[in-house]
Amino acid sequence: MAERNIVLCRDIAELSRQSAERFSQLARHSVQGSGRFTVALSGGSTPKHLYSLLAAPGYKERIPWNNVHLFWGDERCVPPDHPESNFRMAQEALLSKIEIPAENIHRMRGEGQPQTAAAEYEQELQRFFGLKSGALPRFDLILLGIGEDGHTASLFPGNEALNQTNHLVVAPFVAKLNSHRLSLSLPVLNNAANVWFLVTGASKADAVKEVFSASSDLPAARVNPVNGNLIWYITQDAAPGIIAPGK
Ligand code: 6PG
Repeated sequence: MAERNIVLCRDIAELSRQSAERFSQLARHSVQGSGRFTVALSGGSTPKHLYSLLAAPGYKERIPWNNVHLFWGDERCVPPDHPESNFRMAQEALLSKIEIPAENIHRMRGEGQPQTAAAEYEQELQRFFGLKSGALPRFDLILLGIGEDGHTASLFPGNEALNQTNHLVVAPFVAKLNSHRLSLSLPVLNNAANVWFLVTGASKADAVKEVFSASSDLPAARVNPVNGNLIWYITQDAAPGIIAPGK
């Protein structure tokens, strides 16, 4: 099990600065090593600040965007211009402000039929990573968040998609959202070289505390890169259950 490294931050601004700094270092290091940097972006609201920072002076020019390939860890089943679209969030906060080749942006087709869109994205991953059947892609970096229920990407507690090991991409129906989602499967998350959780807000504190408890099987607790680094970037308001008082 990968060690959970915790980076405790005062607030979302510090969390975004710390993760942006490490993102730009890792990007240059990966491109020097393999000629490219493959990233699966997270959705939700927490990473938006980071994405904006990566597109800002001081970071933008330090990232070799021509060699960066952006994928998504999950997507809502909506068109790319829909307010709930994870693609749209990244487009507005980052993609529209940087020079990155269009072919380096590998969007999940949320507007498609869920199972078909999942199969298409699986084929895209197999093509891009040059995978043999049954092999897993190895992302340089996967960004994740956590929901109040302990879900991550779009792998929700009690949903069979969480135990799916035969597919790289799943299309779970999430009853409480009354909608489908698209998501990378757990084996793909755990095959990454680096996985970073970005977590903020007191509403996440209970889920975070449980994830860090010994016996949790919450989806976010099951993210343990087999041969990779795991960092939890957490703001203090989300960390009372895991940080010693007065830290
Ligand atoms: C999504 C996400 C999801 C998200 C958490 C946290 O599409 O919603 O990928 O897993 O990371 O729900 O969301 P917030 O950052 O908005 O709290």
